[in-house]
Amino acid sequence: MANVFEDHIASVKDFPNKGITFRDITPILQDGKLFREATHQLAKYAKSRAADVIVGPEARGFIVGCPVATELGLGFVPARKPQKLPREVKRASYDLEYGSNILEMHKDAIKPGQRVVICDDLLATAGTLRACKELVEELGGELVGAAFYIELPDLKGKEKLPGLDVFSLVQYHGA
Ligand code: PRP
Ligand code: MG
Repeated sequence: MANVFEDHIASVKDFPNKGITFRDITPILQDGKLFREATHQLAKYAKSRAADVIVGPEARGFIVGCPVATELGLGFVPARKPQKLPREVKRASYDLEYGSNILEMHKDAIKPGQRVVICDDLLATAGTLRACKELVEELGGELVGAAFYIELPDLKGKEKLPGLDVFSLVQYHGA
């Protein structure tokens, strides 16, 4: 089957920096039925991993992860960029395909032993995913899977998280 999701991802060359091809998911979001189907597929995956809670990194992880959490009736935990959360936080820094950043999670966001699935739009170098994993585990949670709209296998993100189960709707090989 032709991948209907791939047909609704816009590839923008040299954005935000020269040499980067930005994979823009907003055409999926703009199509109500497709957004629902993407959400449904990620939710099915999270259910198959017996997730107790969904974690989404700011900002696109909120868009992708929140509807997954509500579809399953699960809680959603935001991993936020610095100085946005008002209470005590855990912090993790990470490198991105372009630049570096910090993510924070409230210290009481995850209960010990909870099974966590991370949702985001894109798995590239896995810097974001590794930072989220660190936060989840520091809070006592168990990362049981990660689900994305898009995966860039050539960047070998998965190799940095051996043993982690990863699901994605679309994979792009090459530049
Ligand atoms: C983007 C994307 C993923 C991450 C993937 O986030 O939404 O979260 O990069 O790259 P990685 O696997 O190399 O970490 P970014 O922080 O650039 O922007 P956003 O705030 O729009 O989500
Ligand atoms: Mg992001």
